[in-house]
Amino acid sequence: NVQAALDAIAAAGDLDQLKQVRTAHAGDKSPLALANREIGALPPTAKAEAGKRVGQARGRVGQALKERQAELEAERDERILIDEAVDVTMVPGRRPLGRRHPIEQMGRRIADIMVGMGWEVAEGPEVEAEWFSFDALNFDEDHPARQMADTFYIDPPEHGLVLRPHTSPVQARAMLERGAPLYVACLGRVFRTDELDATHMPAFHQVEGLAVDEGLTMAHLKGTLDRLASELFGDGIVTRLRPSYFPFTEPSAEMDLRCFVCRGTDPDCRACSGTGWIEWGGCGMVNHNVLRACNIDPERYTGFAFGMGVDRALMFRTGASDMREMIEGDVRFDAQFGMEI
Ligand code: PHE
Repeated sequence: NVQAALDAIAAAGDLDQLKQVRTAHAGDKSPLALANREIGALPPTAKAEAGKRVGQARGRVGQALKERQAELEAERDERILIDEAVDVTMVPGRRPLGRRHPIEQMGRRIADIMVGMGWEVAEGPEVEAEWFSFDALNFDEDHPARQMADTFYIDPPEHGLVLRPHTSPVQARAMLERGAPLYVACLGRVFRTDELDATHMPAFHQVEGLAVDEGLTMAHLKGTLDRLASELFGDGIVTRLRPSYFPFTEPSAEMDLRCFVCRGTDPDCRACSGTGWIEWGGCGMVNHNVLRACNIDPERYTGFAFGMGVDRALMFRTGASDMREMIEGDVRFDAQFGMEI
């Protein structure tokens, strides 16, 4: 009987089990308690002997219970320490931070650079009057850009509203609103009826620069572009001008960027196809007709203007080969750049 109790105590695996064992082997209804009670009914001669044996048995069981209790409590405490340990070196599962879209970051960088040169920032509407988009900018009545094929017209077309196909209408707005002298940069979204592919998007972004002052020449234009290019793409990245045509500038030029990957040294360069130059936008001296349409005296003032693709600049900077990646809204594309654009 005592041995059965001792075995049960040793076998108890946790404090709950030990409690049951205690009730069964040392509780009021246990055989030992019964035996204890029966001692009183024994003849006096047997009492002392029986009392001693039962007392010893109860003592052994009680002691075993006490020891096992201490053991199990120590085990439990140790387990709690392990279970509830705090790993102070663990990396916490943080909520990822939001960040500005890379195109937005690129625009802000460009704006910062222009503001650093003392220019102001201007904005204009995306749904723009045909007059600002074309007429004020010296476009012919039948210029191809006016055809529905290139420009999105807002219904009904007689209202003369378009989704602006470039940021140049802001030139006219700025001259009319602010007058000369004037140094403004305009960033914004523009729209053309282009099919979406790796290098074209029907909605994209431009940065427009316009300076109007006494004595401005193409040298000022070139200097401004070179400064912008080297701030954006690295020291020593310069621009090249090639003769071109825009209705609102005369003379006009296409602007190329010195290849910022090979700097013109690698005939197999993927960024510039080995030409050493990357096309970036258009520019020129503001056409006198535009100055006049915007109430600025061309006898006194001259101006230069440029316009280029923000998305293209971002492509250059990130090495993205497909523009669609930049606008599809997959945060994994955006997140790889953090706030480092
Ligand atoms: N607006 C022209 C374009 O979208 C770029 C440009 C801007 C050219 C300013 C000359 C001066 O292609």
